[in-house]
Amino acid sequence: MCGICCVLNFSPSKLFETGVAENLKRRGPNSSREIKKTVTHLSYECLFSAHVLHMRGHLTPQPLEDANGNVFLWNGEVFGGLDVGCQENDTRCLFQHLSTQDSPEHVLSVMSCIRGPWAFIYYQAAKHWLWFGRDFFGRRSLLWRCGAEKKSLALTSVATYLPGTDHPQWQELPALGVYRLDLEACFHLDFLKLELYPWLHPGDAPPLINQFSEENLSSCMSVVMNGSGLCLTTPVCPLNKTIARTVQETAHTFGSQPSVEDLDLLLKCDHKKKLANRFLDVLSNAVQKRVQCLPCDIPSLQPHKEEADIAILFSGGIDSMILAALADSHVPLGKPIDLLNVAFKLQDPKRQKESKKMHKKKTGSINSCPEESLELSRFDVPDRITGRAGLQELKVLNPERKWNFVEINVTQEELHDMRQKHICHLVHPLDTVLDDSIGCAVWFAARGVGLVQDGTERSPFTSPAKVVLTGIGADEQLAGYSRHRVRYRTSGIEGLVQELGMELERISSRNLGRDDRVITDHGKEARFPYLDEEVVSFLNSIPVWEKAELSLPRGLGEKLLLRLAARELGLGPSAMLPKRAMQFGSRIAKLENHQEKASDKCSRLYMA
Ligand SMILES: *[C@@H]1O[C@H](CO)[C@@H](O)[C@H](O)[C@H]1NC(C)=O
Ligand SMILES: *[C@@H]1O[C@H](CO)[C@@H](O)[C@H](O)[C@H]1NC(C)=O
Ligand SMILES: *[C@@H]1O[C@H](CO)[C@@H](O)[C@H](O)[C@H]1NC(C)=O
Ligand SMILES: *[C@@H]1O[C@H](CO)[C@@H](O)[C@H](O)[C@H]1NC(C)=O
Ligand SMILES: *[C@@H]1O[C@H](CO)[C@@H](O)[C@H](O)[C@H]1NC(C)=O
Ligand SMILES: *[C@@H]1O[C@H](CO)[C@@H](O)[C@H](O)[C@H]1NC(C)=O
Repeated sequence: MCGICCVLNFSPSKLFETGVAENLKRRGPNSSREIKKTVTHLSYECLFSAHVLHMRGHLTPQPLEDANGNVFLWNGEVFGGLDVGCQENDTRCLFQHLSTQDSPEHVLSVMSCIRGPWAFIYYQAAKHWLWFGRDFFGRRSLLWRCGAEKKSLALTSVATYLPGTDHPQWQELPALGVYRLDLEACFHLDFLKLELYPWLHPGDAPPLINQFSEENLSSCMSVVMNGSGLCLTTPVCPLNKTIARTVQETAHTFGSQPSVEDLDLLLKCDHKKKLANRFLDVLSNAVQKRVQCLPCDIPSLQPHKEEADIAILFSGGIDSMILAALADSHVPLGKPIDLLNVAFKLQDPKRQKESKKMHKKKTGSINSCPEESLELSRFDVPDRITGRAGLQELKVLNPERKWNFVEINVTQEELHDMRQKHICHLVHPLDTVLDDSIGCAVWFAARGVGLVQDGTERSPFTSPAKVVLTGIGADEQLAGYSRHRVRYRTSGIEGLVQELGMELERISSRNLGRDDRVITDHGKEARFPYLDEEVVSFLNSIPVWEKAELSLPRGLGEKLLLRLAARELGLGPSAMLPKRAMQFGSRIAKLENHQEKASDKCSRLYMA
């Protein structure tokens, strides 16, 4: 994982405001480097800067530059689509592929092949072209901004929030395709003319309507689609929009309190069992690629055998339980797996008083012991409770695995402090109450600083794992949110299909850029198995009623296919848990103003 940035200027360049470089460096603590390209006859200057996090293998400092003066910055992982040899580095390997030819067709065909998350910046020196973009789902962050000076553009993985409105604001680069800026052409214009090469399914006609409105762009830029129809090939198959059911509905009736027996009953259907196992196979592959990410591990560089390489954002809910169980089957047994479980301290003075009164009545005085346990139980939020139960299930599943269940307790003071110091800058330019809650919860969880119980003792623990698996994408694809039920009730299967299609399209701007910025701030890398191209293609290919059956009760019908898969994996009660959003499960939402709506602008992010 890396922090990459580029500042382009047609007048003497000014660097970023303070803070951006520090934030980039936190993403890539192991090497920092800059390259400046000055082209006087076209009067432009490009500054490239990159900060690299050393994952495994040999460290490759960035930006890379070749003999022809081309420059490449890569913040991504190649999980497939391009042969990365055992001793090779994916950054170098990809750069070599890209620079063998310099036609746009070539660049687009190489970028179309790659499987895995990415954001990149590529400068073709001879042509004076600057390419940049994010992968199809937008799993890596890239922000852009038209500079204060005329004809200037800045790109960066992460920025800082600056109060005030007298300067241009950062925006997330829309993950619509790959962008090309012709610097020679721009020299003759008085604005920056960007060309967008959008993602397209093979056989589809290129989109006619320009998806950019004036609001999305500063006045100094324009974005056009290339008239020649050049496009990237979408890495996943289109969503199956069939609504005409071919399979007979199940004749069973289910109580409102579903149980694992209901799942077992459904699994008696051969078709359902087969489908659950096919899903499990593709998901298992996706997890495997992400926990044994690299073509070769160099043993001499791995001195800490007893430390975990892999951590999971863990609520004990079904999405994270499945990830944990699958990671277990691919991580060598000698290695622990860290389960990161975050809780925000419950602030409930009434409850505290009542509880004290009760203790007083019982014991006649408040002795320190119940007081202490009261203090501790205030971190017993819903996700902590399901997390502990999940841990027990995992222990049964594989008694030989060392699971580090990391209890991450966050007080209101620490939350306020870290929000002002770091988190508000990482969440920016997103700004809602929901972005604040999830941004903060994920930041503390990914930091991995908490307590681990060993025997009866709890001791301080910091997770050293650099790879953090998250369950994002499961709810969006398998209809896990309550809004899916609402949609199903009001507009049936057809409405549900539309909703799911829309959610996958907007996941980059809703979640992924933010989560990448927040998690990578700890010098760790977020990986999203549910958004693996093969997983998405599999789920897109089957009709919606195979994924969710919203006529069935809560805790069963939503994400039905995932529940069946969990059962096949040997999971028990966790397979039946209904969705609980992180902001409620961790109780961060309880800490703050109860009146506000999730979509409101969050004033707390702007108090820096
Ligand atoms: C990379 O940086 C981190 C954080 O500063 C440090 O703990 C780690 O040892 C570094 N790795 C290498 C290979 O230099
Ligand atoms: C290649 O190097 C980059 C840094 O340039 C690093 O982030 C990545 O993990 C390396 N990949 C391999 C396969 O060694
Ligand atoms: C541009 O802004 C409009 C209105 O805010 C929004 O509907 C649209 O999705 C945005 N497009 C992109 C590509 O971000
Ligand atoms: C589209 O790309 C081709 C190839 O680079 C270029 O020659 C052509 O001018 C572009 N078309 C538009 C409308 O910009
Ligand atoms: C965190 O909360 C748990 C209860 O969920 C408690 O057992 C643990 O001791 C707490 N740790 C700290 C440091 O407060
Ligand atoms: C959608 O699913 C149905 C039922 O399984 C299948 O017959 C059809 O071929 C699928 N359509 C696409 C486009 O995959």
